Amino acid sequence: MFYLRLLTRTVLLTTLLAVAAPAALAATDDAASADSEAAAGVDVYFEAAPFVPTPDSIVIEMLELARVGPSDYVIDLGSGDGRIVLTAARTFGARGFGVEMDEDLVDLASRSAQQQGIADQVRFVQQDLFALDISDATVVTMYLLPETVNRLRDKLLEELEPGSRIVSHDYPIDGWASERSVELEHEDKVAVTGVARTRLYLYRVPADIAGRWTATLPPGMAEQPVELEFVQRITMVQGRAQIGGQFIPLDETTLNGRRLTFTLPESGARFTGWITNGIIEGMARSADGSHPWRATRQQ
Ligand SMILES: C[S@@+](CC[C@H](N)C(=O)[O-])C[C@H]1O[C@@H](n2cnc3c(N)ncnc32)[C@H](O)[C@@H]1O
Repeated sequence: MFYLRLLTRTVLLTTLLAVAAPAALAATDDAASADSEAAAGVDVYFEAAPFVPTPDSIVIEMLELARVGPSDYVIDLGSGDGRIVLTAARTFGARGFGVEMDEDLVDLASRSAQQQGIADQVRFVQQDLFALDISDATVVTMYLLPETVNRLRDKLLEELEPGSRIVSHDYPIDGWASERSVELEHEDKVAVTGVARTRLYLYRVPADIAGRWTATLPPGMAEQPVELEFVQRITMVQGRAQIGGQFIPLDETTLNGRRLTFTLPESGARFTGWITNGIIEGMARSADGSHPWRATRQQ
């Protein structure tokens, strides 16, 4: 059992590190000591990733990709020495929170915040990232093992407000369509993982749109209220309208956070809408011009 766990851990670490840096590997715990700590009643964390810092140049790229600004609250899951949260506060004016299992790294990050004069903007705590309530975050950043990224899928969807951004360094969230992904070559990454190539993925937490809605369309498209029905798989959405007893599939339906777009065939009208608390409000643009439309969720 011990050797199986050790083998699994070795494979995961190698994946994160590409070509593992010896210094980074030295920072990982031993599975056997975790077992004895558990037996002694000490907090034991599922190791979401070893400490491998994101190079500073890539930290900037991650925060720029999410367009972090002064109104943001950035949570870094597995914050290491705190560099993502510290940069979000110092350079982008955001507030930030780092959760990290390694006490020494938490202390280091907190000291850096004091030294940089931004201790009132950021906080670091020693806690299991899986147990942290992340619902206040407007931006979540992570540099974690691929398995961990996917293990966090439900938590991200359930706890974060629709429209919140997630930036993942190197590993995608399976089954989610990214708003953007970029591939970069950064020489600083070689010292950390042995390769320069870096991928960043930006996601926006989707609103819940699945189900039936009653819509009032612009005059000329439908004189009576119309039923819209959407099926949703996380970020992927398909819809249809029921107009005069006919079902009409919607074209080019996209959902990005709270923003819905689709085309109503025949009318050729392009609809955009903003989803909040069971209401969609927006504009429909066609050859006749732009007109407001609205839908409410059916009970
Ligand atoms: C790859 S490092 C990334 C550090 C930092 N986010 C960065 O990008 O520079 C992952 C960090 O997650 C921490 N970690 C791993 N499992 C954790 C858990 N269950 N709870 C909190 N932190 C964890 C590790 O100690 C490590 O510092």
